Amino acid sequence: MVRYIVTSALPYVQGIIHLGNLIGSILPADIYYKYLRMCGEDAIFICGSDEHGAAIELKAIKEKTTPEALAEGNHQQIKKLLEQYECTFTIYGRTHTEQNKGVVYEIFESLYRNGNITKVESELPYCNTDKRFISDRFIEGKCPVCGYVQARGDQCDSCGNLLEPKELIDPYCTICGKKDITFKKTTNLALDLVKLQPKIKEFIEASSTNGWSKNAVHHSLGYIKRGLRPREITRDLKYGFPVPLDGFKDKLFYVWFDAPIAYIGITKEWDAKKADDYWKGKDTRLVQFMGKDNIEPHTLIWPGILIGSNLGYILPRTIYAYEYLNWEGEKFSKSRGVGLDIREAIEILPADYWRFALASMLPQSADTDFTLESLKQAIDNDMNNVIGNFINRTLTLIKSNFEGSVPKGKLISEIGTQIEEKTAKYQVNFERIDIREALRSVVELAGVGNTLMSSTEPWKLAKSADPADREKMTDILYSCINIVYKLGILLHPFTPSASAEILKTFKSEAKMEFVDRILESGMKLDIEKVAPLFHKLTEEEINKIEQHSGKRVSR
Ligand code: 2FM
Ligand code: ZN
Repeated sequence: MVRYIVTSALPYVQGIIHLGNLIGSILPADIYYKYLRMCGEDAIFICGSDEHGAAIELKAIKEKTTPEALAEGNHQQIKKLLEQYECTFTIYGRTHTEQNKGVVYEIFESLYRNGNITKVESELPYCNTDKRFISDRFIEGKCPVCGYVQARGDQCDSCGNLLEPKELIDPYCTICGKKDITFKKTTNLALDLVKLQPKIKEFIEASSTNGWSKNAVHHSLGYIKRGLRPREITRDLKYGFPVPLDGFKDKLFYVWFDAPIAYIGITKEWDAKKADDYWKGKDTRLVQFMGKDNIEPHTLIWPGILIGSNLGYILPRTIYAYEYLNWEGEKFSKSRGVGLDIREAIEILPADYWRFALASMLPQSADTDFTLESLKQAIDNDMNNVIGNFINRTLTLIKSNFEGSVPKGKLISEIGTQIEEKTAKYQVNFERIDIREALRSVVELAGVGNTLMSSTEPWKLAKSADPADREKMTDILYSCINIVYKLGILLHPFTPSASAEILKTFKSEAKMEFVDRILESGMKLDIEKVAPLFHKLTEEEINKIEQHSGKRVSR
């Protein structure tokens, strides 16, 4: 039987993550997972904190604490916050666990035995002021490709090219800001991607038709075309898993080795036995969500690790990478005060609002700008006016005209067809992981209801003495309440609280199998009090968004 493992890229925990991280992988993964569960699929949703890496070590130095303590504190906070956003992970685990260490060692030893580990000598930047090797991310300089002056040693944020620290022009250390850097020779272990390339290519060609995002296919094939190089998997850092091989015991595994493996490690942290069932099941579909800066590690290195270790762990079926959500044209950056972090955001608006707005802005094919205009379009217009007001009007009219019971009418056939069409579109969009369009179909369905209301004005028909008008009004409201019921179901992956609130009216739950159900006439609805489902953004909320962002958003 088909089963699913849905993963979201594991966020680093040197600080509280921002809305860009949420939209870039956790939220779409959660929405997709909720959809699968609603369809009755056997699925698990795995995510957690990526605790290792240079960033957290350096942040710990700056905050005069240890990486362990910093990771622990931030992990707990992020986990709680993500619960507030109603993300329903099977487990929100972490990378620095005994379970993950076990899988990392198992995989490493197998890669080594299978001859897929090689040694590479490299010259790494050493800061003479800080007296330590500085990681690729913490050396900056001018990009040799595009000339951007703040390119990092691993990648240029401006042109996106992957870089080696040595390629940077005029480099400086970002911990101390000084240019007193020497390149020292050191030998690291590397995954032999040259040897593994033919199999990785085969994997990409066979798998990328299964709903991969275009950018993931395009970038991966580009890398393959240019030819893969061995990829280092060890580093001179202090926090992480020590390398269990003579000659390398003073080194640690590189974060990009143990982080993807942690998808398995975290599943083991949840349940060791079930982890094997899912990860080694031949019918398991592994669907992975991430931001576009995570493409190469997921489409080349991670499959290389899985293929090269040959331990029976399944390969990804779908790799979906999002472009960036920018904040008014600039990259989200808490350190530069651009954008909101997830704690600030949830203090301003409830989870449903952010989930809805961000899902409607999902950067699926190009970088997308978060603007106050787009937030208003999503919340004031689509969520409040189109969906919320329609539901509210329908329930109010039913309460006053039918004593809170489903009207004894017929489904207007044209409306029945539209419901079917929009529901089918919703499903097709989810199947192809076009989450933004799936949400669009929900808004369109509410639009069908609104058009019906405004073109027929049932509140006027209700006042008519003519029984034909009364009958017409009954059919209209019967059709509308059926739309409301579908909206309750279809909204579940996007706005779980509002969905539950709507479905409470029908004493029902969010299951796709109910979507074809036509409500029984006369059924008593739970509408003691009809309250608006949503509200428009208030002046106060807008001001808070502006204050917290550290930058005024345009009006
Ligand atoms: O880019 C990031 O935030 C990484 N921590 C993502 C890791 S994803 C996975 F491989 F663990
Ligand atoms: Zn320095």
